[in-house]
Amino acid sequence: MGARKPLIAGNWKMFGRNADLAEIGALAETTGPAAAKIEVLICPPAVLIAPAAWQARGKSILIGGQDCSPSAADAARTGEISAAMLADAGARYVIVGHSERRQNHKETDDLVRQKAEAAIAAGLTPIVCVGETQAERAAGQVAEVVGRQVKASAPGQGGAFVVAYEPVWAIGGNSTPTLAEIGEVHALIRETLAGQFGAQANETRILYGGSVGPKNAGEIFTVPGVDGALVGRASLKASDFSAIILGHPAAV
Ligand code: PGA
Repeated sequence: MGARKPLIAGNWKMFGRNADLAEIGALAETTGPAAAKIEVLICPPAVLIAPAAWQARGKSILIGGQDCSPSAADAARTGEISAAMLADAGARYVIVGHSERRQNHKETDDLVRQKAEAAIAAGLTPIVCVGETQAERAAGQVAEVVGRQVKASAPGQGGAFVVAYEPVWAIGGNSTPTLAEIGEVHALIRETLAGQFGAQANETRILYGGSVGPKNAGEIFTVPGVDGALVGRASLKASDFSAIILGHPAAV
């Protein structure tokens, strides 16, 4: 894994209320000792970012957004939230191109790249999501699809960003690729990044996401090239999420 610090990120999606912010305090208590070795991030819904950042102040938990506008400048864009606004509210990271946005909001690779670039311009680290559908995997198109998404969605200027490999069919269900398959795709992503960004690509962390939970996280973290995880459902409760974090080999 080299010098890349593992990142374990929780994506709360459209779940959570102010009362759930107590989970952040509970999470910091159990995972605090591992914070020197592992970055822990919670991405709550946009309206909870500011109070979540307040809750996390002085603690080992970082806060991020789940999406941002592609516009780096303030603009007449009703309903959108800029990366600069997320940063102002206390976010350090932002997820872009999650498959639920690619599917439900028809987000293209090009739009995702613009969002990643706007995030970097605002001082945030984007987490760029990629991943094949079940049909694409069945058709033997994993390398083609994921390679294309990485090339076209990664921020053009390079720099600090994270890639999350999330097979669409593994999200929100119970099945994941085999450890060997996860390793293969991570190697392919690293190779693609090296082709784009040269030696700088070694610094990019590549996370696995899709049905990661306390039971399977430990073995997924042992796969070479896996620099952490993007976790949905199992990040909502501090008890589950801390079990995932403490199951990382770097936590001991
Ligand atoms: P899941 O979601 O862990 O609930 O499968 C992962 C994600 O969509 O980021």
